Amino acid sequence: MDDSILKGFSKYNKQERIDALIQKYGFQEDLSGWLASFDNTDVSIQKIIGDLSENPISSFHFPFSIAPNFLVNGKNLFFPLVSEESSVVAALGNAAGFWAKRGGFHAEILGTEKRGQVHFIWKGNPENLQAIFPEIKDKLLAESTFLTAKMEERGGGISTIELKSLPHILPNYFQLDAGFETCDAMGANFINSCLEQFGKSLQDFFRTSPKINYEERECEIIMAILSNYTPESRVRVWVECPVAELLDGKSLQECEVFARKFEQAIRISQADVSRAVTHNKGIFNGIDALAVATGNDFRAIEACGHAFAARNGQYSGLTDVQIKDGKFRFSIELALAVGVVGGVTAVHPLAKLSMQILDNPSAKELMMYLAVAGLASNFGAVKALVSVGIQQGHMKMHLSNILNQLQIPENRRTEIQEYFQDKTVSFSAVEEYWKSFGLRDTGCK
Ligand code: MEV
Repeated sequence: MDDSILKGFSKYNKQERIDALIQKYGFQEDLSGWLASFDNTDVSIQKIIGDLSENPISSFHFPFSIAPNFLVNGKNLFFPLVSEESSVVAALGNAAGFWAKRGGFHAEILGTEKRGQVHFIWKGNPENLQAIFPEIKDKLLAESTFLTAKMEERGGGISTIELKSLPHILPNYFQLDAGFETCDAMGANFINSCLEQFGKSLQDFFRTSPKINYEERECEIIMAILSNYTPESRVRVWVECPVAELLDGKSLQECEVFARKFEQAIRISQADVSRAVTHNKGIFNGIDALAVATGNDFRAIEACGHAFAARNGQYSGLTDVQIKDGKFRFSIELALAVGVVGGVTAVHPLAKLSMQILDNPSAKELMMYLAVAGLASNFGAVKALVSVGIQQGHMKMHLSNILNQLQIPENRRTEIQEYFQDKTVSFSAVEEYWKSFGLRDTGCK
């Protein structure tokens, strides 16, 4: 391997980047054509995809899937999903169909406020600063109107600005902690621009106000940045049905056993961190798949969701269940911030299609759909875990991946799938069985 340090890689064109790769790793020259085969043949589409990031050498494909039958507040939708994990889409489709026959998903928005902070150091008296803060706040608001005017026309803007003195974190450390309404935008640029302007106005106040002593005029801005933790941007989703209807074609007693085990699984996820992380991972299987399909920042959504899961001081499962008077009610409350205008949503052709599939939702509706995907995914996972186990579904998909790896022809797959229906699936077991076909075909067996 060539270990030389490359200079100016970001200025290389695509072919130069690929050539550098071939040279460093000793790949075959035809890597170039193979990489190109993953790019879109429509040059304008490929440009949009390539421009989403830096230094691209090709395009990395994931399946773009559909799960039908999502009935949400009475509206019947297909959910567009991008996931590389095979059983996720099937689980979502099954849960959607199951709940569509039982009234569907109910969803409500509990808030939409986003937050951001200016972190600064000021060597003065916190009480005195708090006393003159209303004046500072007026200045911050007045001097950011050039940024907020358009957002205010749309019904958004700056909702709150608080001063926080936090000397237990750092000596002389303060925050301006602000709340924002960003309507249908995720709002990152709007919030960050406002925060940076607050920082400038704040420094100006310290420099020029007669209420500030000479030795207190210095204010050091550490940083100004939105928080991806948005506990006041929140959604609640739930499903409910009689316990007796929880399992198709099963007796009341079987349904009751299932409901009890389901509830136990939820209680464990709420109290035990090892289980909670896996439980929530299953929830984000659904949320991320829909977030990626709609061009939303799934890392921000995950980070917020996991912090929200620890809001009471212990990391817990995000879903809850109540079984009362013969009724089963399964719910999720989730903090998340999304946008339906701007960003990848507005440029990626498949993200645009996803938005059409979802009937061009508002940001509030998309928040609901994401929480629905999370609840549906969790229902599918916990249902499987407390009944047949997770491996049955996973192994079916695992087998399909192995058949692809072994390049088994389509006309031989059904027989192999049937053979492995009641057997443990492993690469070597499938390979061994496939070899026996060869022996049979050549008449040796
Ligand atoms: C696998 O991707 C997700 C699960 O582990 C979630 C869970 O255990 O609840 C099945």
